Amino acid sequence: MRFYPGSPVLTARALRPEDSYRGFELNPPVEALLREALAAWPNAVGQAGDGYEEAVRAARGLKAPLVLIDPPFERPDDYVRSAETAAAVLRADPTACVAIWTPLKDLETFDGFIRRLEQAGLSRVLVAEARLRPLNNPMKMNGCAMTVVNAPSGAEAAAAEICGWTVQALGDAGGRAEVWRAG
Ligand SMILES: C[S@@+](CC[C@H](N)C(=O)[O-])C[C@H]1O[C@@H](n2cnc3c(N)ncnc32)[C@H](O)[C@@H]1O
Repeated sequence: MRFYPGSPVLTARALRPEDSYRGFELNPPVEALLREALAAWPNAVGQAGDGYEEAVRAARGLKAPLVLIDPPFERPDDYVRSAETAAAVLRADPTACVAIWTPLKDLETFDGFIRRLEQAGLSRVLVAEARLRPLNNPMKMNGCAMTVVNAPSGAEAAAAEICGWTVQALGDAGGRAEVWRAG
């Protein structure tokens, strides 16, 4: 637990003076950690709230916001709510960039999630998968994926490098990186 919170701190470090970051957390002790971790950056704040609802609200009125959705996927509706949130943010601003982290357990669940994004009419979808082993045991965490709608230029090459390195460093035999486009 040396690097938690992770993405909020990485994001805060990358902010330019004109940027701002808001992170939403439901669990009070984790929210306290988030606030504390971001205390050093005046334009980054951690707040209590349902990230699915708050991200849509926070993105409203911003030009080309970047939204990262990173739930624990402990609840079965996390896939549905992630896809709905992405669609709502992109309906409000088609130039928004939305990145959604998902675990990779079995292909059926993941394909269902991608189909949901496509059915919502989202295009320009980049999928970066780090498959640490073949996806044939749905009870196991077999890797993870980052799905990015409106990924900026250069994201595909960066994703291939990151996923390739991750699989090489942490994967079993039969693991592989897959970077592809949907939508
Ligand atoms: C995988 S962690 C996020 C890690 C974070 N991105 C990082 O790099 O440090 C998922 C977090 O989402 C929180 N969470 C779950 N459902 C949520 C919701 N609807 N709104 C906000 N936070 C939620 C959980 O309490 C948990 O702390």
